Amino acid sequence: MDNIASKVNTVFSEKFSSIPHLYYSPGRINLIGEHIDYNDGFVMPCAIDQGIYYAIALNNSDVLNFYSIDFKEGLNIKIADIKKSNSWKNYVLGVVNEFVLLGLPVKGFDCVFGGNIPNGAGMSSSAAVEGGLAFGINGLLHFDLSRKELALLCQRAEHNFPGVMCGIMDQYANMHGKKDHVILLDCKSIEHQYFPLHLAGYKIVLINSKVHHSLASSEYNKRRKQCGEGLEILKKEKGISSFRDIKGSEELLPFKDKMKDKVYDRCKYVVEEILRTQEAAKLLQQNNLIEFGKLMFATHEGLSKLYEVSCKELDFLVNLAKENKNVIGSRLMGGGFGGCTINIIKNEGVKEFLSNATIAYQKKFQIDTEIYEVEVVDGTRELY
Ligand code: GLA
Repeated sequence: MDNIASKVNTVFSEKFSSIPHLYYSPGRINLIGEHIDYNDGFVMPCAIDQGIYYAIALNNSDVLNFYSIDFKEGLNIKIADIKKSNSWKNYVLGVVNEFVLLGLPVKGFDCVFGGNIPNGAGMSSSAAVEGGLAFGINGLLHFDLSRKELALLCQRAEHNFPGVMCGIMDQYANMHGKKDHVILLDCKSIEHQYFPLHLAGYKIVLINSKVHHSLASSEYNKRRKQCGEGLEILKKEKGISSFRDIKGSEELLPFKDKMKDKVYDRCKYVVEEILRTQEAAKLLQQNNLIEFGKLMFATHEGLSKLYEVSCKELDFLVNLAKENKNVIGSRLMGGGFGGCTINIIKNEGVKEFLSNATIAYQKKFQIDTEIYEVEVVDGTRELY
């Protein structure tokens, strides 16, 4: 068994007397389609081998006992007393709260969790925390919610407790990951298809900038609001019902004067990224990684200049990638303002690029990066 899984199990047996069920709940990468899950776009995430392990057992009471190994902190609370809290507690309590809101008869349980997914790195540790717990509760209490219903429940949990108005990508990828496959998720219909991830000759590598922007969640909500504001204008003036109805960013020009500058820029990015992602999906299915990689660079440019969710550290890492002929695509991944870049690199150039990038980054910012070569795995599941 994986080291972390056995640690979670051991800590559980030190704290509680029953035999728990063990679950694995993955983080995710996203190949392309950033900040468009809440704008009716397409995204291309995969579940990865970095995530959260949960040990959970019912305890025949009305009390929830949580222990977070990573935060070295516990929480004991009666189901009836659940309310918004802070830090990791908001993520677990938010999930239980959503089951309660559905009118389902939640019962007390003991729970220990911990993982190997860095916080704030854009790999969606929050969806991993939510998904593992939701899956466990659903199974142990036989609530019979589907994976899609669980993903939507976790999204609501994140909206209602931590207050991040996230899209559906992270929670969906967490529940629907498939080993060695990409999930092409249509965020308008919330339907997906899989296709195999063929990376012959290339590797996907994440570089963690180690920058953690404290305003990330409020800026995230602000972007979402600005897009909503732009869409309202387009609905009224152009008669569309979704960003999906716009077939090119030139269609936005006639409405530029009606929008605040920032709102226009956000809408331009969204329209371009929706089109780019559709093109990227075709290229990936044709195994045309070179052209796919070019679109990743273009996405970064848009995220940096139009959507303004990058930072100087991420821009620096992507520029280094651009200058290296073995890196065919690179961009910031996830919500932004820090976290990781995702890079597609030719096998023979991986070592050299990573060592150069690490040294150059340290020299420029005095920060040691972390590098992750991730594997694409199945979504949240019970291990035993
Ligand atoms: C975060 C959110 C997702 C998505 C990404 C940006 O990870 O949770 O819903 O919006 O940012 O693509």
